[in-house]
Amino acid sequence: MQYAKILGTGSYLPANRVSNDDLAARVDTSDEWITTRTGIKFRHIADEQEKTSDLAAAAARRALDDAGLSADDIDLIIVATATPDMQFPSTATIVQQKLGIANNSPAFDVQAVCAGFMYALSTAHAYIKSGMSKNVLVIGAETFSRIIDWNDRTTCVLFGDGAGAVVLGASDEPGIIHSKLHADGNYLDLLNVPAQIADGQICGSPFVKMDGPGVFKFAVKMLSKVADDVLTEAGYTAEQVDWLIPHQANKRIIDSTAKHLGLPQEKIILTVQDHGNTSAASIPLALDAGVKSGKIQRGQNLLLEGIGGGFAWGAVLIKY
Ligand code: ACO
Repeated sequence: MQYAKILGTGSYLPANRVSNDDLAARVDTSDEWITTRTGIKFRHIADEQEKTSDLAAAAARRALDDAGLSADDIDLIIVATATPDMQFPSTATIVQQKLGIANNSPAFDVQAVCAGFMYALSTAHAYIKSGMSKNVLVIGAETFSRIIDWNDRTTCVLFGDGAGAVVLGASDEPGIIHSKLHADGNYLDLLNVPAQIADGQICGSPFVKMDGPGVFKFAVKMLSKVADDVLTEAGYTAEQVDWLIPHQANKRIIDSTAKHLGLPQEKIILTVQDHGNTSAASIPLALDAGVKSGKIQRGQNLLLEGIGGGFAWGAVLIKY
């Protein structure tokens, strides 16, 4: 049996770290409001020169080092992002060029917003299981600060920029145990960025539009269900999960899902306080933080779960 095993992890955060007090100096908000509603204290914001592909390539280099592989060992790159460098080509091909990979292996983006890393990881798993790929770079990278209206206090306090990457390799040992993805396009209105390029200009607002309470309710319900389903279908119980690594949107959403599963706080990798919501980057950023802090150990069972605009959501169970 061919498994897809995590060979290495890496992450990158822009240097500019913005506190809740910094934001309170520009919009009508407060550290107290943001902390109690979301758990967020800080977020990192890319400078003008830094593109999503720069963040992605930096995280990828660290993941390659961690895996002990060189860039040319990679035979597929998948980048999950909702904030690509350009309309086209894909950010994955730009990352390939920045890493100096010249082996003509495939590279493409997946777009499932905050669930993007779940989609990218599941896709990479399928490529490895089928024998189509051997070593895959799976990256979640975002510059959400570019699609935020910095005068809208209901959204600007929530998001940050960053990237996380894993090198997934074919192995005889597990590996990804099971994954499950879902989407429901009926919830388009809860969360979107309506802008499109047409007739040589941007039509519609280029900023995040969100029904916060609506997102909150939907996220808790669907994350709880997909976590239950992935465990049941794999023949696992919640007690066998060593670490829950959820999408880091909001501490209250994370706590509700953990409570539903009966998992104590000590089993959650939490980075939302330091990163804010980095969309597709949040899960691999949290995974790398857990690994590099020494909390996550080889052989442990990890439950990853994410949800975002679409709506799209999913969960992946991994033996690390
Ligand atoms: N600072 C101070 N006051 C604010 C702010 C702010 N930054 N933002 C909104 N308010 C005000 C509102 O104007 C409102 O005032 P009013 O009562 O006078 O009208 C009041 O606070 C309450 O607003 P609500 O939207 O009802 O606040 P709620 O308790 O629902 O919290 C929040 C809002 C934090 C957005 C919450 O709904 C939430 O976390 N939703 C999930 C959203 C999310 O995670 N989105 C990320 C993208 S999707 C994903 O990643 C899963």
